[in-house]
Order: sequence, then C-alpha cells, then structure tokens
Amino acid sequence: MKAKSDKKNTKKYNICVVGAGHVGLVAAACFAKLGHAVSCVDSDLRRIKALKNNKMPFYEPDLECLVKKGVKEKNLSFLTSLVEGVRKAQVIFIAVGTPPQKDGSADLSSVENVAQVIAGNLNSYKLIISKSTVPVQTGKKIKETISRYKKSSQNFEVASNPEFLREGKAIYDFFYPDRIVIGVESSTAEHILRDIYSKVDAPIIVTDVNTAELIKHASNSFLATKISFINAVSRICDLAGADISKITQAMGMDKRIGRDFLNAGIGYGGFCFPKDLEAFSYISKKLGYDFDLLKEVKNINEGQRKNFVEKVKERLWIIKNKKIAVLGLAFKPDTDDMRFAPSVDIINFFLKEGAHLTLYDPQAKPEAVKLFSAKGGSASGGKAGRLKFSKGPYEAIKGSDCLCLLTEWGEFKKLNLEKVKRIMRYPLIADGRNFFDKNKVCSLGFEYIGMGMQSDGQSSNTKK
Ligand code: UDX
Repeated sequence: MKAKSDKKNTKKYNICVVGAGHVGLVAAACFAKLGHAVSCVDSDLRRIKALKNNKMPFYEPDLECLVKKGVKEKNLSFLTSLVEGVRKAQVIFIAVGTPPQKDGSADLSSVENVAQVIAGNLNSYKLIISKSTVPVQTGKKIKETISRYKKSSQNFEVASNPEFLREGKAIYDFFYPDRIVIGVESSTAEHILRDIYSKVDAPIIVTDVNTAELIKHASNSFLATKISFINAVSRICDLAGADISKITQAMGMDKRIGRDFLNAGIGYGGFCFPKDLEAFSYISKKLGYDFDLLKEVKNINEGQRKNFVEKVKERLWIIKNKKIAVLGLAFKPDTDDMRFAPSVDIINFFLKEGAHLTLYDPQAKPEAVKLFSAKGGSASGGKAGRLKFSKGPYEAIKGSDCLCLLTEWGEFKKLNLEKVKRIMRYPLIADGRNFFDKNKVCSLGFEYIGMGMQSDGQSSNTKK
C-alpha cells in the first residue's frame, strides 16, 4: 500500500460498514488496514458467523489475509446488530445490495431500512455515506428518511463515495484507485472523508452528492458501451474478413481511446454492468431522458452470446449428443462470481439442443453447481444427466467435439495444446475471449472459432 509520507498519523475513525458483500467486506477490511476501527454488519447470521471463523463468503484474492489481520489487530469486527454498529460509529458506509427489479429499477429497500435504523439510533453526529451503486438522488432520499424518522436532535450528514473496485482486483483497486470520488454537502463531511482516505495516494474529486452518484453510473455504463462497441466492430470483422485484435491494438494506441476494455468476446457479465446499465436507463427515463444508447449496449451484449453459439452450431452442425467441454464459468477470471455470466446462457443453449457438457472452472464450481442444480434450474428435470463438472481441464476436454473457452483464466494459458488435440474427439476450439493464439492453434491442426478473428482459421485447418 502506498502511504503518504506526510500523513502517517491519520485520525482513527469509528466506522460501521453496513453489508458484508463484495463492496462492503472489501471496504471494511481495507478501512481496517488503513488503521480505522471498523465494524462490518450484515443481517445474514450465517455469513457473520462464518466471517468470525475466517471463512470468506466469496473468492477474492488476498481478502482472507486482510480480514484475518484486521481481526487480529482488533481493527475489524463483525456484527449482526445494525443498531449496535450504528450507535458506536461516527461514520457509516452503506454497502447493502441494490438488486435489479423487473422494470430495471434498483431495489432500494435495504438502503431505506438502514436509513430508518440510523434515524432511530442517532446518538451522536454521524456521517452517512452511500458506497453501493445507487441511482442519482438516493442520497437525497436517505437524508429525507433520516430527517423524517429521527428521534433525537443530533446532527447528521449524507455523502456519496461510490466504489469502483473490480472483482478479483478489489483490494488493489481500493489501495491504488485512479481517483476517489466524494460527494458531500459540507466542508466537515469533506474533511472526514479526506481524513479517512489520507493514506491512499490518489486524486480526490469533490462534488455534490447527486454528481458523485451519477459519476458511478456514467462510468460503468461507459465501460459497458466500450465493450459493446468493440463487440459490434468484431461482428463486422467476421462479415468483412478483418482481424479485431489488430483493430483494437491500433485503436488502443490512440491515447484518447485507450486499450482497456476493448477486448471483443462473448460480452460482459457480473453483477455490476448489467444491473447498473438497467438502473441508469430507468432513472434517466424517470428524470425525463430516454437513454436509448444504453438499450443498444445491452442488445449488442446479449447478441454476442447468441453469436457465439451460432458459430459453434455452424461448425458442429447437429448439437444433439455432441460432447462439449466448457472451460471457464465465472463472468471473468479471478472470481467465483457466476451472476449474469455469459457462460450461463451459452450452457443453457447447448443443453436445450441436447449436447453433453463437461464444465471446468478453477473457482466457480460451487457457484455453478448451485446454479445449475437449483430447483427449476436449467440442469434439473432430465437435463442434469447431460451436465457434468470435472476436476481439471483435461478431464473436461477428453473425448469432446468442441472446446469452448468462456473465461480467460490464466491457468488455461498453460494448457498443453498438443495433448488437448490428442484427447479431443474433434479438434475444434471455440474461443469466446480471443484468448488463444489463433495462428498457433491453427498450426497445431485445430479448427478455430474466434470473435471477429478474420476467417477464423478454417482455411489453415483445411490445408492440414
Ligand atoms: C465493474 C467495474 O469495472 C468496476 O469499476 C465497478 O465497481 C463494478 O463493475 P467488475 O464487474 O468486477 O467491475 O468487472 P470488470 O473487470 O469491469 O469486467 C466486467 C465484465 O466485462 C466482465 O464480464 C469482463 O469479462 C467483461 N469485459 C471486460 C469484456 O468483455 N471486455 C473487456 O475488454 C473488458
């Protein structure tokens, strides 16, 4: 962690982080590491019990170590009582879930509930900061709720400090952010937040609360747009016979564009982009602006999954009874998160068509098992027999007619491709992330399907 040399003796704040999900737990552990006294509250008794026994509720590199250290140094504790957490804190970060509803709007009932509990337990001045991604004007609603229900004359303030952390890189993102955004209503709130982050060396953008909330939605939506844009270009590459990897290389060298988030493939997933895009679209409309661009971003993203399966179908002809090996299930590498993962739709499609699937992921197997065997889930009711999990990649690949690479885990780079070719029934690689070196796999005699990868190597295979 980069510490600012001139600010070593930061004030220690009593912080309560409400919500022990990805955002909340990471923030709580990191605030503890910064030297604050943090209690992390969650209403899920089992989750808190597990955390007290050093069991993490999800996979995030380095998190377990940080949590253990925080607890050992007595800077971090876990509670189920929100009342207790609120009463002893000066600063409260709200990091509860804001799941999507059917109409695309964010369900803010958990946020309201926290606001109500704070209102009933305002025993001293408190700064209440929203860290969850929330629609613009949520801070205003939190303030109204607390003002309406508060039982004491104590002062409070509301602020916004959106979190930009990526799953799998969350700890790094916390300590080395590109920027810290704080939306505040007073210099007192600004001072407290600056103090809390004083050991993190990053530019701080100070705004009003509405603007800070919008920055988060605009950032995530822009990144999703960038991905969908390049995916649309990859479709044209397929149609015109051009190479998306060279296009992104050249585009990315233009500093105004940048190379990040220009990887074409089966599209984005995870709990943030799909949910935030919907919520941003919904709130824009509610405010009086139809943000149609975002609808197209979503359409292109969903189209990529269909595009991928169509490509496989075109090569395999009949999917029924074909054996398909799926490598990578999580929505991206270094996480076990399967929420809105493109793999789910793709697997469901192959199952529906009667394929036999063997799945492998270095971390996401437990989540995938839950998902596919849940009552009413895709693998229940007759389809379950055609869905297997393997302990390693080669076991999944053995005897398969097609290897589908859906998540670009680093360990797949180490695959012995000669062995892969030997053990497959038919050497077809469908690379949903343009992860393999197309020339290399084609020279080994594989048939290769990429996403916007010019002629997809079919010709080189034909020559073999
Ligand atoms: C995202 C934001 O990056 C983060 O700032 C915010 O706080 C939460 O949402 P996360 O969902 O963890 O983080 O994943 P991210 O690394 O941003 O990737 C999102 C999805 O986009 C993944 O499914 C990934 O595979 C996909 N992606 C990313 C692409 O398809 N192409 C790319 O070039 C980059």
